[in-house]
This record gives sequence, C-alpha cells and structure tokens, in this order.
Amino acid sequence: MKIRIATTADIDEITRVEIDSKLQSFPQLVEACDINFDTRAYRWETWFAGQSPVSARPERIMFKVVDNSKIIGYLAIQLTTRFDMDAEIQSFFVLKEYQRKGVGCRLLKSAVNWTIANHVQSLCVGILPANPYRAFYLKYSGRYLNEHWIVWDDVNLLKALIC
Ligand SMILES: CC(C)(COP(=O)(O)OP(=O)(O)OC[C@H]1O[C@@H](n2cnc3c(N)ncnc32)[C@H](O)[C@@H]1OP(=O)(O)O)[C@@H](O)C(=O)NCCC(=O)NCCS
Repeated sequence: MKIRIATTADIDEITRVEIDSKLQSFPQLVEACDINFDTRAYRWETWFAGQSPVSARPERIMFKVVDNSKIIGYLAIQLTTRFDMDAEIQSFFVLKEYQRKGVGCRLLKSAVNWTIANHVQSLCVGILPANPYRAFYLKYSGRYLNEHWIVWDDVNLLKALIC
C-alpha cells in the first residue's frame, strides 16, 4: 500500500470510495444526498478548485491510499477559519475491508505532517454524534468542542501519539 497525493483525476474513484465506505460503515446514518454520486463528485470538484467549504483557506491536500492500483482510502484536509482552528479534516474514509489495519492511522500521520509543514498547530474534524467511528479520533486524544466537532489544540502532541 502506498500513500500518494490525490488530484482531480481521482475524483470518480474517491467519490466511489466515499459512498461505498459510508454504506459499509454506518448505513443507518446515511441519507440519500450523502450517497448521490453526481452530488458528491461535484463537491470534490469544488473542493479541489478551492471553492468549498466556505470556511476554508486555499491551502489543501488530499492523501489517497493505493493498493494494487486501486484507491482504498483517502483523507482530505485544508487550512480553515472555522472555530479559530488552523486546519480541518474535510473527509476521511477507508473501505470497510481495509479498516482496522492501520491505514487510517497512516493517513492521519500524513495529514498531521502536512499541518506541521504548513506551520499551523490546531486541527478540527466534524463527525455525526451517532457515528461509532468517533472512537478513532478519541483514541488519538481528540477532545469534543461540541457534539459535532472534535479538536486537537496541538498537532505536535497528536503526532507523538500516532503510528
Ligand atoms: C475512521 C477510519 C478512517 C479509521 O481508519 P482505519 O484504517 O480503520 O483506522 P486504524 O486501523 O488506523 O485504527 C487505529 C485505531 O483506531 C481505533 N478505531 C478505529 N476504528 C474504530 C472503531 N470502529 N471502533 C473503535 N475503535 C476504532 C482503534 O483503536 C484502532 O486500533 P486497533 O485496530 O489496533 O484497535 C475508518 O474506520 C473509516 O473509514 N470509517 C468510516 C468513515 C468514518 O467514520 N470516517 C470518520 C468520520 S469523518
């Protein structure tokens, strides 16, 4: 498995990973708009173009994990103005059959290294309160800002905790 930087050429495959992982991981939380391919692919076009989300600053990157020429997970992150935080994980999905094998930890490490390279310190991520995968973020010492947002005040401390 290799971690690479994703580009607009990956939008279709990333969108498929996002939708499949949602359906596999928390089908009970998925609404129709969350898994509409055209809607989600368009969202990625605007994200790569720096047009969404409105709270974002221009700096952004998406890391993809490739196994046998197939994308099996990704993490998208951007600098942000949200909550006076520095960076925000926009989207983070690994296909179910590849979960709990350390892939997410490696993606998080790439994201944290990117924030440090950008000389910023704090990080946030939005997550549905009922999403059981919040356990991943809590394992790495994320703290709740409110029921929808988990934050880290210092990515250097987070870096010391991850694989
Ligand atoms: C969250 C996600 C990206 C993590 O990726 P991953 O490859 O499964 O993560 P890792 O294998 O690196 O897990 C590292 C540790 O996090 C914790 N963890 C991960 N998933 C967990 C879960 N579902 N329940 C409890 N703990 C979990 C575990 O402690 C795990 O270590 P262990 O397997 O040795 O016990 C992935 O599970 C996923 O795509 N989930 C569905 C989408 C989602 O909810 N994304 C986040 C919200 S935006």
